[in-house]
Amino acid sequence: MSAPPALDGATAVYGILGHPVRQSLSPAMHNAAFGSLSINAAYLPFPTPPEKLEAAVSGLSAADVKGFNLTTPHKTAILPMLAEILPAARAIGAVNTVRNDGGRLSGANTDGEGFLRSLAEDLSFDPAGKEALLLGAGGAARAIAFALLGAGVSRLVIANRTPARAESLAADCRGQHSGPAIEAASIDDLAGGAPHLLVNATTVGMGDGNSPVELEALGVREAVADIVYHPLETPLLTQARALGLTHTNGIGMLLYQGAAAFTFWTGREAPVKVMRAALLEAAGSKAAGEVGMGTEK
Ligand SMILES: NC(=O)c1ccc[n+]([C@@H]2O[C@H](COP(=O)([O-])OP(=O)(O)OC[C@H]3O[C@@H](n4cnc5c(N)ncnc54)[C@H](OP(=O)(O)O)[C@@H]3O)[C@@H](O)[C@H]2O)c1
Repeated sequence: MSAPPALDGATAVYGILGHPVRQSLSPAMHNAAFGSLSINAAYLPFPTPPEKLEAAVSGLSAADVKGFNLTTPHKTAILPMLAEILPAARAIGAVNTVRNDGGRLSGANTDGEGFLRSLAEDLSFDPAGKEALLLGAGGAARAIAFALLGAGVSRLVIANRTPARAESLAADCRGQHSGPAIEAASIDDLAGGAPHLLVNATTVGMGDGNSPVELEALGVREAVADIVYHPLETPLLTQARALGLTHTNGIGMLLYQGAAAFTFWTGREAPVKVMRAALLEAAGSKAAGEVGMGTEK
């Protein structure tokens, strides 16, 4: 683990609010970034139950904490507390990154941008003109659906355990993107379809030893992205490897959403190599220590 930053009266403070937040890999990633660029800043976990979110945000703002991330369950609840919500976050209906400019809070959502950059950097996959199958209709799936549509997919199928949630997300997507075909499905009734890209944005595979789908039956043509990152290779990715499909886990999305947040806060380019190494080291030590991993969303 990298050395903690030296702290003094001028240290800028950042952090993450979640419930739980103990499992978060973001402190390791951001403190490594600050250290490598010699920025006098520190990033801390702020465990915050839902009923205390408003008080916590007001206190952090008053104490001139420069910025913070939101993880489950706060990404939607934060919205009314912000002076400004950037367009991508407004479309998704969730914020994962807040910047504090002297008490004026602005919110962004970097999850979609992080996901797209992971597709580009880790898989060399460009969604433009491609067909995508997205598993899940929760918060992460919302960000990914809008990101894929923004990147120009020609067809998006959203499949969820609870089909009504998939239909609701599909309807929201159709409201903002009239060009591509956008369909909803039940995850249990999927057959064929031969998408170019399959994305898992459900929690299935996160330490449960399960895969959300039998991959071979779907005829995926090019790539599989599982945004789960604990374990680093989920059963879905094991299937992808066996089928010879290019694939990636959720570390890249976590890294690049963090990189975008870092730039939103500091105006500096994020040192992604250092951040990726810190994430992998932290993920490895969490796995080794069996620190009841939850999710960082
Ligand atoms: N890599 C990253 O940067 C990153 C970022 C965000 C999230 N994530 C990961 O993405 C996953 C989803 O996060 P989220 O915030 O979207 O969670 P969420 O809002 O709670 O949504 C959970 C999704 O998983 C589905 N699901 C849960 N249990 C299931 C089961 N047994 N079978 C089939 N589907 C099931 C839910 O379906 P129902 O609607 O039917 O309940 C829903 O679609 C988590 O593993 C999280 O760690 C990773």
